Amino acid sequence: MRSYSPFLPLLAALALPAQAAQIAISHRGASAYAPEHTFAAYDLAIEQDTDMLECDLILTKDEVPVCIHDETIDRTSDGTGRVDSFTLAELRQFDFGSWFNTSNPTLAKPEYAGARIVPFEEQLDCYLRINPKMRFHVETKDSAGGRAEQVMVELLTRKGLIATGDVAGGNVQSSTVVLQSFDAGSLERMRALTPSIPTGFLFAVPDQTTLPWLLTGNGPDYIDFYIPNSALVLAYPLSVPLFQAAGHDVHTWTVNDSQQMNLLLNLGVDGIFTNNTDLLRSAISARGTGTTPEQRGNPARFTRGCPGIAGRVTSNKGPGDVWEPTGTRGVQLKAASAGDEMGGGGTGDGKGGSLPLSLLAALLVAAGLRRR
Ligand code: G3P
Ligand code: CA
Repeated sequence: MRSYSPFLPLLAALALPAQAAQIAISHRGASAYAPEHTFAAYDLAIEQDTDMLECDLILTKDEVPVCIHDETIDRTSDGTGRVDSFTLAELRQFDFGSWFNTSNPTLAKPEYAGARIVPFEEQLDCYLRINPKMRFHVETKDSAGGRAEQVMVELLTRKGLIATGDVAGGNVQSSTVVLQSFDAGSLERMRALTPSIPTGFLFAVPDQTTLPWLLTGNGPDYIDFYIPNSALVLAYPLSVPLFQAAGHDVHTWTVNDSQQMNLLLNLGVDGIFTNNTDLLRSAISARGTGTTPEQRGNPARFTRGCPGIAGRVTSNKGPGDVWEPTGTRGVQLKAASAGDEMGGGGTGDGKGGSLPLSLLAALLVAAGLRRR
């Protein structure tokens, strides 16, 4: 934590310090238009030119991190029961798409039916293959006695994603993965396990713990950035420049209305979670305060459904990677070799296909190099 005069945040706030580019964070994917936390929702978020994909992270019974918001599968699948009462293989039997068609008849699409649960590692593999610059906003929903943080650190270490940001400063804006939680203990555990993953605290009420943070712009050392909900930002607008003056980014949630987006962008927040990535991209673009298309790196065309990756993870030990970390923000694609476990063929069922690996490698490189 940097040291500073108690008057500095207020002075700096009044001076309206320059801020980083404002980013769009796709809340459960482009979840206004497609079933949340499915490849269809994430694909659409890429198409709508997002900066970050969210994953609400819960461990399965066999400790595989999966992206799902609720502690049960009741609302978003055709099954019932707690997420942590099923193994990944068991969860894969359920349909996580048809509920959306039933609940949203005007947005229903036949291809949403039968959507499968997405392990976090497949989210990483799929969207880093499509866009090596993609970034991930991961929320620990249930620490499972600290196992969630441990499993996450093991996974990110195995994949070379522990220190992909500018650790010297501003790594919230550059790290491939950032961690968020309503549970401060989760952030503290994460910080103790690895200091290089940026941590953000989610909160919605000004209580005896969070009110001093809102009024001073600062909190515990293990919190890098702050994630008040939008009502709290509107109630305490000066907290935004105060947090920023103390060196903390501010992201806010969940904003699906253009007018509210503009209000919050005017208050200077660094990032907004939204179900409507398209609306937020338009709002940020109109202001000219966002990242550039080159910084985002989203391709104009890509194959939807994550062929060769969907269904590939079977445990938290993971398959071989299809990309390599660069050491700074982003990754580079690996050339496929006979030893790679990467399949292909576009079926999206994880069983691989009949494309020769060399052709597949060429397609992946081409997809990764395409830019808007
Ligand atoms: O992570 C930001 C926002 O998603 C927090 O609320 O309940 O949608 O996870 P929730
Ligand atoms: Ca969340």
